Amino acid sequence: LVSIRDIYKDPKKYIDKEIKLGGWVRSNRDSKSFGFIMLNDGTYFDQLQIVYHDVLDNFEAVKKINVGAALIIKGKLIETPEAKQPFEIQASEICIEGVSAPDYPLQKKRHSLEFLRSISHLRPRTNTFQAVFRVRSLIAFAIHSFFNERGFIYVHTPIITGSDAEGAGEMFKVTALDLQNIPKTEDGNVDFLQDFFNKETSLTVSGQLNGETFAMAFKNIYTFGPTFRAENSNTARHAAEFWMIEPEMAFADLTDNMDIAEDMLKYIIKYVLENAPQEMKFFNEFIDKGLLDRLKNVLDSDFGRISYTEAVELLEKHNDSFEYKVSWGCDLQTEHERYLTEKIFKKPVFVTDYPKDIKAFYMKLNPDNKTVAAMDCLVPGIGEIIGGSQREDDYNKLLKRIEELGMDTSLYEFYLDLRKYGSARHAGFGLGFERCVMYLTGISNIRDVLPFPRTVGSCDI
Ligand code: 4AD
Ligand code: MG
Repeated sequence: LVSIRDIYKDPKKYIDKEIKLGGWVRSNRDSKSFGFIMLNDGTYFDQLQIVYHDVLDNFEAVKKINVGAALIIKGKLIETPEAKQPFEIQASEICIEGVSAPDYPLQKKRHSLEFLRSISHLRPRTNTFQAVFRVRSLIAFAIHSFFNERGFIYVHTPIITGSDAEGAGEMFKVTALDLQNIPKTEDGNVDFLQDFFNKETSLTVSGQLNGETFAMAFKNIYTFGPTFRAENSNTARHAAEFWMIEPEMAFADLTDNMDIAEDMLKYIIKYVLENAPQEMKFFNEFIDKGLLDRLKNVLDSDFGRISYTEAVELLEKHNDSFEYKVSWGCDLQTEHERYLTEKIFKKPVFVTDYPKDIKAFYMKLNPDNKTVAAMDCLVPGIGEIIGGSQREDDYNKLLKRIEELGMDTSLYEFYLDLRKYGSARHAGFGLGFERCVMYLTGISNIRDVLPFPRTVGSCDI
């Protein structure tokens, strides 16, 4: 079978030839002696028009075909320079592979994203989700190319883990214990020593700590995999299961870290603009009007870079516009992040050197003893898309921090070892993959860029 993508890639090969292709019906209009089917085969954003006539043996059956039916079509591809689409097929045979029941939920009209969320098994068949998930796939590919071109090793870090990489206590527990009959310790707690791994385990919140062990061997590595957070945040940008890209670079500091993050985001934007022009035009028209201009401008300018302390000074002047007032020491909320990037900088911006108390234990303490070498990248429309830092590479300082925070030192021995045997300055970051997809598509809810979203109170299919 030929696909619609094949046709658009090399039309000359197929024009005026008899071809065969399979796809699903988006619409079927008929009059007395002929009809038109718009066919989508998933391989290309545009649909292909199929023209059929009453010479078909099954003409009456074809006229009755509902939206959603699967067909295999034989016919001649002809050029239609006057029409909206440059080609159509004049069908000589239409084989009904699978009919579609008349209650098919996707009729030829615009459905709301909320409604489509309730049918996540069917929404990939709509234009919007065809565009979203094709772009999602392209972004993943662009990220792998970016790091591979630079010699980074792709590491598969584990999903089940015994340590809390962010120290934030937002882990989903993993257990093989029979909930009806959980073994208890003498003090009445769950006895994890009798569980599968003989210890308490969870789904990973980040591959970073494992990634660092590989960076201390391969110099430049990245992870790209699913991560899980039992964060009780019911927002448009938090999911319980999301994907993260985490590069880690030995002999790199915070500036190197920002440079590579900026290059990566620009690479992704450029790749998607070049490889998904129709999808991007669609988003610009139907999802987010300023999208294309905004992304093109990003390619032509440097990201903003500002310290947390400077950012707080700027934001304090606008405290009237915020629900949560800003002062030094507070964590920046989405409203503050968006104000900085949308109103003040009007482009992506890195905020660096946050107070140590609002950041993770592994970040390198700055000489002021109050802030750490952290960087968050904020983008218009979303806020934080990347979180990263230079890591504490001093054994004693790291141990002191782990103890100060009351963390279980025994779980971090492997991590401390990295500071004992050939410690080197190193830095890395985590790009939230879904937030990156939101940024490139203009889609404003994370539930609409995840194939099967898992969020507070919701885990369907
Ligand atoms: O800022 P975070 O928590 O940083 C880390 O996990 C570090 N270990 C990264 C590193 O330095 N290697 O998360 C990184 C990014 C965030 O900036 C955000 O884009 C995304 O992951 N993220 C989420 N995306 C969707 N849903 C959630 N619940 C998310 N939590 C974080
Ligand atoms: Mg963060």
